[in-house]
Amino acid sequence: MARIAYVNGRYRPLGEDAIAIEDRGYQFADGVYEVIKVLDGRPRDRERHLDRLERSLDALEIAPPMSRVALCAVLQEVLRRNRLEQALLYLQISRGAAPRNHAFPKRATPTLVVTARRPHFPSAAERADGVRVITQPDLRWGRCDIKSISLLPNVLARQAAAAAGCREAWLIDQAGNVTEGSASNAYIVDDAGRLITHPLGHRILGGITRSVVLELAQSAQIKVVERPFTLDEARRAREAALSSTSSLLLPVVAIDGAEVGDGRPGPVVRRLMELYAGHLEDGAA
Ligand code: PDD
Repeated sequence: MARIAYVNGRYRPLGEDAIAIEDRGYQFADGVYEVIKVLDGRPRDRERHLDRLERSLDALEIAPPMSRVALCAVLQEVLRRNRLEQALLYLQISRGAAPRNHAFPKRATPTLVVTARRPHFPSAAERADGVRVITQPDLRWGRCDIKSISLLPNVLARQAAAAAGCREAWLIDQAGNVTEGSASNAYIVDDAGRLITHPLGHRILGGITRSVVLELAQSAQIKVVERPFTLDEARRAREAALSSTSSLLLPVVAIDGAEVGDGRPGPVVRRLMELYAGHLEDGAA
């Protein structure tokens, strides 16, 4: 069955040409996106994702192409037409098509695309044994909190990780801090069992999974410290982890080939993984 995408008011097979050559998403990466996980037919943490989408649009002064209610109806219809109960929904909104000129066009209608695909959640082995990361310099711009489709530094970092046989690349800023991964947030656990992660702000994307994980940690009396941590601290940490919509929460057991702790997933991250699985079972909307 051909995959069906929503493109500016129409549902059409994914392979068909649909986007204008002068779409500003294509020419300038002038747009934003979201990835939402669907389990048992229900988009999870949808409201948090749509809140973040609105913040990203607002930051770039792109008008929402439709109301939230209408957008939710489109998401459900894309799932229905693709007959997917488990999925990753991808939503992209660009500023629209206009003759190429860097400044905003006077009139442009935002382009909205929604696709869905079968998810590849982490394997049982990855969850049980953890995953490995490499480090790469953080070459991104100064507004990483906006979920912009301009992802070239992230693409290059993730490719370096893939070439090294690793799940993720952790990005290191000029001060030597781990900001986040190429497409996930990063955590360590210190000797006192505290969960440490980079604070919100312009240097990282405020992950939806991150926000849930921090709430779950607090409710389980795991102390959370939102502060930058250095690569050196990460190397000496007792445990480490990464999180994203599609990776869920995963133990990180090696950084640049050096084991974290004893090289096995530790108790704090394992507990948080259980809590996050419970959150998904509860069916959070
Ligand atoms: N990436 N940081 C970055 C740079 C990301 O791209 C992502 C998500 C995250 C985690 O955010 P969340 O928990 O809301 O998924 C953090 C998505 C999934 C992607 O690009 O596919």
